[in-house]
Amino acid sequence: MPVSAHVVGWGYYLPSRRMDNETLEKQIDTTDEWIQERTGIRERRIAGPHESTATMAVEAAKAALQCSQLDPAKLDLIIVATITPDFIFPATACLVQDAIGATQAAAFDVSAGCSGFVYALALADQAIRAGSARNVLVIGADTLSRFVNWQDRSTCVLFGDGAGAIVLQASELPGGVVGTTWGCDGSGWELLYVPAGGCRQPASAETVSNGLHYLRMNGREVFRFAVGVVPRVTRALLEQLNMDVGDVDLFIPHQANARITAAVARQLGLENERVVDVIDWCGNTSAASIPIALCHAIETGRLKEGDLVVLAGFGAGLTWGAAAIVWDRVPTALPRGWLAFYYRWRYRLAAWRSRLRRQWRRFRDAISMRLHKRWREL
Ligand code: COA
Repeated sequence: MPVSAHVVGWGYYLPSRRMDNETLEKQIDTTDEWIQERTGIRERRIAGPHESTATMAVEAAKAALQCSQLDPAKLDLIIVATITPDFIFPATACLVQDAIGATQAAAFDVSAGCSGFVYALALADQAIRAGSARNVLVIGADTLSRFVNWQDRSTCVLFGDGAGAIVLQASELPGGVVGTTWGCDGSGWELLYVPAGGCRQPASAETVSNGLHYLRMNGREVFRFAVGVVPRVTRALLEQLNMDVGDVDLFIPHQANARITAAVARQLGLENERVVDVIDWCGNTSAASIPIALCHAIETGRLKEGDLVVLAGFGAGLTWGAAAIVWDRVPTALPRGWLAFYYRWRYRLAAWRSRLRRQWRRFRDAISMRLHKRWREL
């Protein structure tokens, strides 16, 4: 029996710290009017000092798992889409795996800019169809506030931090993820990138003093690329499914700029009721933007059973991707009390397990060092 991947849980996390346009007005030469008119953004969330891509991804994962009522130990795979990982290595997905106690899961990151979530979703779907995984946690998480130059008004007004996650599960029933497509034009890598910190220009006092660890962007070219590629990739996906725009019940593009969303919707002939636009309250959260927008659409009752939802991403690379999902999981009222209690204990146990394993490794290392020293002294 062929299996398909069904969305059985979802959740998102936004840092509590809000930064509105008025706050930015006090820091740089900009105005609330310019930002709202040119981008549609009113405010964005900024990670606090104790937050990171991994901590936000963990919170989104916990919400998605609780929604799916799946035990973390049943996960086979965790994919985190991010361009702002906690470390160059190991992958942020490994930190998530440890924090939620997903003891049976493989874990890795996907770096595909703001298309990352769609890329990760496509990979998860393929792993499920191939039979190598039954339960996959797909997360999009980014902390771009740590990579923007807060003096550069052309970029710092755009981005916000956050994380969104879904749980995909194998099922013999039809529906779920019905199609995915992706692509890349690497000739555009210079349009959106961070010059230093990689092996080409490792971080040094000089790179930092020259501000090379900050994000660089050619906004106008990225805008042009987005408006061209998103309608194209969406039509290509629908064609692959023998469908057309009329079949789409809800369209969720990457949330980069309200003008991009409006231009894409216009080209596709989609009216506002079929398009999700949440950029005004969270800004561009990069790989997290599509799952956050999806969760918001669910919360506000915009998805009904049987609806066809199309996700479309674009971003650094240049990359793009789209996914079509037949929505077959209606949100049910969860028995929140005991479930929340169960998960709380599950994560506490995961934290103890992690601490114990790390301490055991330190102890074992110290003993072997001592034995080694003794042996050399003999
Ligand atoms: N406040 C006030 N003025 C600003 C400003 C700000 N925050 N940022 C730029 N400006 C100014 C520019 O300096 C320029 O002034 P000038 O004409 O005197 O040189 C003017 O506004 C117009 O700049 P321009 O870059 O042409 O603006 P724009 O209409 O293209 O809007 C972006 C700029 C960045 C909002 C827009 O290009 C965009 O959204 N691009 C896509 C970016 C994106 O989505 N990136 C992520 C992809 S995943």
